[in-house]
Amino acid sequence: MSTTRSTIAELSGHAGEEVELLAWVRNFRSSGKIAFLILRDGTSLPDGTPEVQAVVSRGDVDEESWEAANAAHYEASVRVRGQVRADARAPGGYELSVRELRVLGPSADYPIQPKEHGPEFLHDHRHLWLRHPRQVAILRIRDEVEKAIRDFFYDRHFTLIDTPILTGSIGEEAGELFETEYFDLGTAYLAQTGQLYVEAAAAALGNVYCFGPTFRAEKSKTRRHLTEFWMVEPEMAWTDSEGNMAVQEAFVAFIVGRVLERGRAELDVLERDVSKLEAVTPPFDRMSYTETVEYLRGKGSAITWGEDLGGEDQTLLTEDRPKPVFVYDFPKEAKAFYMKENPEDPRTVKCDDLYAPEGFGEVIGGSQREDDFDRLLARIREEGLPEEAYGWYLDLRRYGTFPHSGFGLGLERTVGWMCGVPHIREVIPFPRTINRLTP
Ligand code: 4AD
Ligand code: MG
Repeated sequence: MSTTRSTIAELSGHAGEEVELLAWVRNFRSSGKIAFLILRDGTSLPDGTPEVQAVVSRGDVDEESWEAANAAHYEASVRVRGQVRADARAPGGYELSVRELRVLGPSADYPIQPKEHGPEFLHDHRHLWLRHPRQVAILRIRDEVEKAIRDFFYDRHFTLIDTPILTGSIGEEAGELFETEYFDLGTAYLAQTGQLYVEAAAAALGNVYCFGPTFRAEKSKTRRHLTEFWMVEPEMAWTDSEGNMAVQEAFVAFIVGRVLERGRAELDVLERDVSKLEAVTPPFDRMSYTETVEYLRGKGSAITWGEDLGGEDQTLLTEDRPKPVFVYDFPKEAKAFYMKENPEDPRTVKCDDLYAPEGFGEVIGGSQREDDFDRLLARIREEGLPEEAYGWYLDLRRYGTFPHSGFGLGLERTVGWMCGVPHIREVIPFPRTINRLTP
């Protein structure tokens, strides 16, 4: 008779029955006549506990099983047959009484041991470190955030537009491009943004968004920078800067709400203070750039009018703040060429950055786009951008120009904030930074 195969998640439906579980050994201990294995398989018990205890009693199992239980290694893969027992005292409410244990893949000298390892060591072993309960919880939250992003826009009838990764035009900063040779066509760049393309799509479909990996050859070694990161970029026709901020506020509140609703067990594993997330309800704070500079100087920053907010300014601005804060209408020279000149103060542009609380910093950059052909062309020339590469982008102002706005939300910055993880390289499965290309 074959034994029913079960995952940890399915055990609760098999109380009292014998099942077969395929899993990895997360922990073990033995005391003479009885051995305990903590097993994980990537699923969770009904209360969210991502592991189950398997109890091996010497008298109940064959010799091979008993030896295997006593020679267990971290992260060995095993096949266990045994009876599922509902037990209120067991973590997660269920336990396995083992009848047979077989090691499928031994794991002698597993490199990650239950002791302090430095971050570089852990990142060198990222392919194995992913199995740690904290990392599993982070990846689950990331998945929830991605699903929330897609649901938010799908439910509001935004059309998903997949934009190219190989591009011929510079989206953001000329100095931060990865280049590659492209046949007879010269240099191609890895996309820094999908924005210019979703602007074209907005004239076709109204409200659209792209969501994918983007690349920045930034020489920043900060806790907030990756060279490859994921960004979601909505673009909305007939929407001004005010309307843009209203969508950003609703969007961020939606993501936070979803993580609180569906990610409780993972937030528990991460020991995240959920009251900090529960406080993130609209309306968010709003400050003009000029007010923000005064505020920061009052807190000891050396920022002067005209500069973008640096990492330390972002921390200063948000460390004591329970809610996210919008800073709007930045100086032209601090921001990208495509932002719309502010008719009320032409030294500034109609844009906003949204900064997350607790010191997490900028999660969104957004703006109303320059929709006037002559002004946009002048800005392209001022920035010294290659005009010929922007012919198609200027066409959007030549043929049926329209007020439109959009923004980019950084996925890793958002997930780091949700998880309470300060360094964003820990929230992407395989981070790419200035000094890391493997694993
Ligand atoms: O402010 P950024 O550069 O804006 C844009 O790229 C616009 N084209 C967006 C748009 O309007 N469609 O980037 C947007 C967000 C930042 O707020 C930040 O969250 C994230 O992307 N980001 C990074 N995340 C990780 N590593 C980096 N190097 C990042 N650079 C930006
Ligand atoms: Mg920005």
